[in-house]
Amino acid sequence: MTKKVSIRTFGCQMNQADTEIISSLLTAEGYCLVAEEDDADLVMLNTCAVRENAVEKIMHHLDSLKGLRRRRRGLVVGVIGCVPQYYREEMFQKSGVIDFIAGPDSYRKLPELIRNAFQGIRGAELFLTQRETYGDIEPMRSGSISAFIPVMRGCNNMCAFCVVPFTRGRERSRSLQSVLDEVRRLEGQGYRELTLLGQNVNSYRDDEAGADFALLLDEVSKAAGEMRVRFTTSHPKDISEDLVNVVAQRENVCNAIHLPVQSGSSRMLEVMHRGHTRREYLDKIAMIRSAVPGVALSTDLIAGFCGETEEDHLQTLSLMEEVRFDYAYMFYYSVRPGTYAARHLTDDVALEEKKRRLQEIIDLQSGISGEIFRNDVGSVQEVLAESESRRSSDMLMGRSDTNRVVVFDRQHYQPGDLVRVVIESSTQATLIGRCQDPGEG
Ligand code: SAM
Ligand code: SF4
Ligand code: F3S
Repeated sequence: MTKKVSIRTFGCQMNQADTEIISSLLTAEGYCLVAEEDDADLVMLNTCAVRENAVEKIMHHLDSLKGLRRRRRGLVVGVIGCVPQYYREEMFQKSGVIDFIAGPDSYRKLPELIRNAFQGIRGAELFLTQRETYGDIEPMRSGSISAFIPVMRGCNNMCAFCVVPFTRGRERSRSLQSVLDEVRRLEGQGYRELTLLGQNVNSYRDDEAGADFALLLDEVSKAAGEMRVRFTTSHPKDISEDLVNVVAQRENVCNAIHLPVQSGSSRMLEVMHRGHTRREYLDKIAMIRSAVPGVALSTDLIAGFCGETEEDHLQTLSLMEEVRFDYAYMFYYSVRPGTYAARHLTDDVALEEKKRRLQEIIDLQSGISGEIFRNDVGSVQEVLAESESRRSSDMLMGRSDTNRVVVFDRQHYQPGDLVRVVIESSTQATLIGRCQDPGEG
């Protein structure tokens, strides 16, 4: 009988893209994907280890699967992705409910691991390779409007706080040709937007084709036709003028750049091994803004990293005021065993203090985002409608070129349509508007 599989995805967009690759691999083997764990013969969790609370979430979910296992005899549980790559075989002791584990470079081994697990044989596949990109596998995509295209995997940067180089291994890129072929297939299938993904997407390189990320983006934009093109995540040290010029010149490349800075203090940036100073970051921001007026800039920030003083924290606040990011992902530092920071630095900012600093960062950013969004009131935004709004089927939700969430009265429009929306009001996270009348503006 056909076995039913549910895959629950935690963590970043790379994990979401991996789940689409795994879905494709497993359906080719005859498995049937189901949305509910209650209906499944095999439950897989595709996991994230970036912060302690991400791991706790997964452990908590595994606990809840113990009950499901009692109700469904023969249920198989697999844990894949960054958590097993990080904790390795120790996973089997961490939770008694796991039948197999596989790391991010071992997904081709899943059919074998699953077959064995159904016969009661436990398995672990945790090799990291320098080559695996899954570039030959057509992902089984969950949506029909926006698509992820992973173009590179892994990270060589070794930021002092981060597990990603340990869970994802060394950087490697897909060939330019395989990316362009995928873009053309998506265009043929009627997709409206694509996002090029990588842990450090702008470290992309195909030496045989002589391509760096700027060239890839330029070629993708030409092959994408009417599709919008986005990319994430960029590392500040690898943002080049060539890349920014492609964003400026290509109509279908969205004017939004996510550029994590982590801290506004040059001293902390050095301790974090980020490879740039505050001044260098600000110079890159100035370079981007002069080439792409109106560009939306977003970032990631960490509060309370090892040795961070009040003065360092104030530097982060002042950098935020200077740049005025459109939005930010903000975290307090969480020690990750095995990283440089865990081995060589002291986690000496008390939890309460980390939380206080984080709250100040969040409050400041909320105020800035609120002001930036209020300034959009009265403007006309080109919005790609993605879905019905959660509040009402009379409203559609979509994103502007600058990645703002926009909700508007749908009239005759459908998800997938590109709509000109007049912005009438705003909150800290959303713009609210109406469709522009024909002939208006
Ligand atoms: N590659 C991206 C870059 O260099 O900016 C970021 C990838 S990481 C998966 C996403 C974000 O998680 C980081 O930018 C950082 O802000 C945050 N992060 C990573 N390790 C962390 C830690 N140990 N504690 C708190 N936040 C962390
Ligand atoms: Fe982690 Fe730094 Fe690599 Fe980003 S660049 S994934 S923060 S090690
Ligand atoms: Fe998490 Fe792994 Fe992504 S640690 S953030 S799922 S690369």
